[in-house]
Amino acid sequence: MAEFSLPKNSKIQKGKHFAAKPGAKQVRQFRVYRWNPDDGANPRVDTYDVDLAACGPMVLDALIKIKNEIDPTLTFRRSCREGICGSCAMNIDGTNTLACTKAIEDCGSGKGDVPVYPLPHMSVVKDLVPDLTHFYAQYASIKPWLRSQTPAPPKERLQSKEDRARLDGLYECILCACCSTSCPSYWWNGDRYLGPAILLQAYRWIVDSRDEDTGERLDDLEDPFKLYRCHTIMNCARTCPKGLNPAKAIAEIKKLMIERRA
Ligand code: SF4
Ligand code: F3S
Ligand code: FES
Repeated sequence: MAEFSLPKNSKIQKGKHFAAKPGAKQVRQFRVYRWNPDDGANPRVDTYDVDLAACGPMVLDALIKIKNEIDPTLTFRRSCREGICGSCAMNIDGTNTLACTKAIEDCGSGKGDVPVYPLPHMSVVKDLVPDLTHFYAQYASIKPWLRSQTPAPPKERLQSKEDRARLDGLYECILCACCSTSCPSYWWNGDRYLGPAILLQAYRWIVDSRDEDTGERLDDLEDPFKLYRCHTIMNCARTCPKGLNPAKAIAEIKKLMIERRA
């Protein structure tokens, strides 16, 4: 049987423990993945004791507290702190999610330590920051804007209520990449498979009644890798922090492919 092992310099080491200050009332430990490209050391997991009695309720609050009060070298992305920008996506307590909307008390049934890692299967820039360059290039590849040959009307391009409703469950996507980085097909074929997030976005434009490039959009996806590497594993729908269902969008694209062949 083949045996696989991580290269020596990828093996995760035990890191430092930052103990709670005397007088801390409600301590919970956060085990946080650390890797610095500049020091040549292996990745490690540092443990931070955080006093929840003096901390906001979300995992992002704990990370900000760690950075501000315990260890300023900890690196992560965040901006809106309300589930809109998608920049704080990471793997918390074993699930890809947004640190700003993940309550600390919902981790590990409210007890035990809280593991915090970067989004899986991506190159790491530093600590909790994944490299999303390829993900964004894939997004650009679907030309995510309204494509129309009809001259623009003097005011807005109107839609019926029914046509507008077809964008529900799609327009809410914040491109956090939680779904794509939870998808085993994307882990193994992410160079060519577009993954659930980008395919959901592609479908968002395919069903937009104002867009006139539907045929070309489908032509671009008619490819053994870009679309058909989805094997209905469903991790994407389970993990989306916005409650969206990229698997359904992918199934709808596949249906359209079949219908237009008939
Ligand atoms: Fe994030 Fe959900 Fe959009 Fe995927 S579908 S990128 S998980 S918001
Ligand atoms: Fe992946 Fe979701 Fe398809 S997890 S295989 S994109 S159903
Ligand atoms: Fe914007 Fe979390 S900080 S989604």
